[in-house]
Amino acid sequence: MTESVPVDSAQTDAWKQLSDIATGFSPDLRGWFASDASRASRYTFQAADLTVDLSKSFLTEEVLRHLLQLAKDADVAGRYQAMIAGQHINGSEDRAVLHTALRRPKDGQALVPPKGFLVDGEDIDAEVHATLDKVFAFADSVRSGAWTGITGKRIETVVNIGIGGSDLGPVMVYEALKPYVQAGIQCRFVSNIDPSDIYEKTADLDPETTLFIVASKTFGTLETLTNARLARQWLWNNLSESGAIADTDDDRKNAVAKHFVAVSTALDKVAAFGIDPQNAFGFWDWVGGRYSVDSAIGTSVVIAIGPDNWREFLSGFHAIDEHMRTTPLEQNVPVLMGLLNVWYTNFLKAQSHAVLPYAQYLHRFPAYLQQLTMESNGKSVRWDGSPVTSDTGEIFWGEPGTNGQHAFYQLIHQGTRLIPADFIAVANPAHPLKDESGDGKTVKPGQDVHALFMANFFAQTKALAFGKTADEVRAEGTAESVVPARVFSGNRPTTSILAPALTPSVVGQLIGLYEHIVFTEGTIWGIDSFDQWGVELGKQLALQVAPAVDGDEQALDAQDSSTKSLITKYLELREAAS
Ligand code: F6P
Repeated sequence: MTESVPVDSAQTDAWKQLSDIATGFSPDLRGWFASDASRASRYTFQAADLTVDLSKSFLTEEVLRHLLQLAKDADVAGRYQAMIAGQHINGSEDRAVLHTALRRPKDGQALVPPKGFLVDGEDIDAEVHATLDKVFAFADSVRSGAWTGITGKRIETVVNIGIGGSDLGPVMVYEALKPYVQAGIQCRFVSNIDPSDIYEKTADLDPETTLFIVASKTFGTLETLTNARLARQWLWNNLSESGAIADTDDDRKNAVAKHFVAVSTALDKVAAFGIDPQNAFGFWDWVGGRYSVDSAIGTSVVIAIGPDNWREFLSGFHAIDEHMRTTPLEQNVPVLMGLLNVWYTNFLKAQSHAVLPYAQYLHRFPAYLQQLTMESNGKSVRWDGSPVTSDTGEIFWGEPGTNGQHAFYQLIHQGTRLIPADFIAVANPAHPLKDESGDGKTVKPGQDVHALFMANFFAQTKALAFGKTADEVRAEGTAESVVPARVFSGNRPTTSILAPALTPSVVGQLIGLYEHIVFTEGTIWGIDSFDQWGVELGKQLALQVAPAVDGDEQALDAQDSSTKSLITKYLELREAAS
């Protein structure tokens, strides 16, 4: 743990003031908008290309003032400076936290911290760009067909094998940037140790045109290494069955050399697996797994979309990093959104947070954010090891609109829980289709379908904010007995984020935005948002339980009675089916 003692936000005057306001807090979005013509403009902010409207949130001037004071008391800006300057703010792992260095421009002028600054004695800018150049050169060779499989055929499918941050980031960005993927190349992502995952993802592939990327920061993750071995087995079996390779060590080695590359901080382990370290791309222990999509972990996506688009993606992150670093707290979008989440979580007792992208290509964004926010901020001790003094973490969940509207929005509109929701949309779709034969009733012929989609985006936040009163329901001629069921209370807070289009830069901006929201919240709570010890016990126990599941009676007897009976049942079911 670091020596520094975090400020106990819960003991500050700002916290007390917010608690007092929260007692009996009665939001009135209809009234607030009616009495304040400037509310929308006052609470709409710009961060790079992202327009962020907080006016339909539960912000008031008084609440905002105390939240900003809280950010000052907890020194959010100071801790951010400490982070980008390479201080070891990940105390429990004694590491610097420098994902922001992954997107600092190569030839940037007047960078803060200055170009060439050393972290633990290393010029990290030089290392970042050397690695990036190596990834770009490799990606170019795959894209051009210069890199081929063992039989000389060009690569058509890149299979990324990784889990957690070594999967969720790449798959989310690949899906988000599908329109930028080069024709003739596709990516697939294998993560789960459930053998069905790799089976399904490889079932229809041609081994001669398939490249595997084993992505693992530690190169010690059970799921990833198991899947990598299964992939290698699949490659060898299929190539030798078709006669493409002989059943010799040399041929197998050559096949791995042409069909496997790795991304890891542990290049010795990569070599032990049989992948030539020349075909491995490194990164560093100061990049957390869930913050690593913009490192070489994204190699699969670089191959798919190409180096130029990847540079644009990185520049989007950097724009948000600079916004975070230079913008006063009062206009600082990640800080404001982080503070707002603290307001909802700690004072208004929201139990979860919905993320609702109105962009089908962002369909994996909520899953990505789940790791980012929950692995970062789901902590019970502060960075000095003392217990936290308030609730921490947020439960993120969501699905793209409009699908979610027909599934779980009922609860958001009329349920008993407070669920703050982020609505995310882009103005210009990749495919601006028109409904030429619109029915002429609800949809006019020639209707721009994205406009219709966006009508839903705007309507939902409006409905959530302003609801529908009993009188309005009655005025529609509704029978009195069903009026209560048709009333919408309104006062359901939302944040709207609007970007020009889902470009690589905008995707980088969105990720950077949420990274710094998480940072802001973690700083207020005094926690280390960059370790993840909570995932370790389950991993240890899985290895301990594995012999019992494999039929070792002694190991089975050593289990608690519940686990033992469940494993026994599992073994019976396997036996019955064999
Ligand atoms: O178990 C959690 C975790 O350590 C994540 O933090 C990480 O993103 C994931 O596992 C994968 O780890 P690795 O990249 O080392 O295989």
